Amino acid sequence: MKRAIIIDTDPGQDDALAILLALAAHETLELRGIVAVAGNVPLPLTQLNARRLCDLAGRPDMPVYAGCERPMVRDLITAEYVHGKTGLDGYDWPEVKTPLQEQHGVDYLIEALRSASEGEITLCTLGPLTNIAMAMVKAPDCKRGIGEIVMMGGGFFEGGNTSPAAEFNILVDPHAAHVVFGSGLPLTLMPLDVTHKALATKERIAAMQALGNETGKACAGMLSFFNRFDVEKYGSLGGPLHDPCVIAYLLEPSLFGGKAIPVQIDIAPGLTLGMTVMDWWGMTKKPPNCTVMKDIDADGYFKLLTTMFARLP
Ligand code: BDR
Ligand code: CA
Repeated sequence: MKRAIIIDTDPGQDDALAILLALAAHETLELRGIVAVAGNVPLPLTQLNARRLCDLAGRPDMPVYAGCERPMVRDLITAEYVHGKTGLDGYDWPEVKTPLQEQHGVDYLIEALRSASEGEITLCTLGPLTNIAMAMVKAPDCKRGIGEIVMMGGGFFEGGNTSPAAEFNILVDPHAAHVVFGSGLPLTLMPLDVTHKALATKERIAAMQALGNETGKACAGMLSFFNRFDVEKYGSLGGPLHDPCVIAYLLEPSLFGGKAIPVQIDIAPGLTLGMTVMDWWGMTKKPPNCTVMKDIDADGYFKLLTTMFARLP
């Protein structure tokens, strides 16, 4: 049986590859809808970008919704310095065809989760958790439809990437993250501790380009652009390819290793706002609320991506 998923996202080049991977894996994953949130770039661009990716994958029938245009409490922080002005710089995007659905993304989430059977939906979150938390606050009963939330966010051993303590997705909306981490639902987290081991090196990008299809060309173009910021910042061989880890985990969980631990989000104003405080060594004696990944077979991950992209237009 296929696994039913909904993607919540703020594309972003790395979100783009995650969405393409999910669309390529249609024999395993039943992607029911994509909800955009404000994050890497403002909402008018993230919803447009999500639709561009459906076009690229030959899926203009995919329902795409626009969710929240700002975080629950804080002002929006964006990351054009990483992703470029459009969020998907690095490829020349044609005019968009996939329509935007009229319904608000949060209302779609509530409706889709309420009409699902118990635990039927896996939520895949690739951006700030605003839409998910808003759905949980507005309609707590909709949590019944969620079997698991698999998220990209946070970091512990690696520290943060947007402040010394906090990762971008969590720092943009720490209050939403606080709601989701306190929800009692099964959570699986792909933090920077994993994604900083998944580097889009020149060779791995060249393998995508060599596919010879439009998807390979777009991915290679986007990654070459996306890489420049992190390569300069970290002096690494490539940028960390964060978000596709979420979808790769659903397809090949054995690529990842981690453990179930207690994780709390710091929402107190100050230096560590948005920190994912991970009790890796069991010091608090609290029950675990999240499976946190720490290891990845990076070669296997890029092989999966490239093999799957070969199936797209
Ligand atoms: C996360 O922040 C965004 O810039 C990326 O798309 C990813 O979801 C990494 O910190
Ligand atoms: Ca993202």
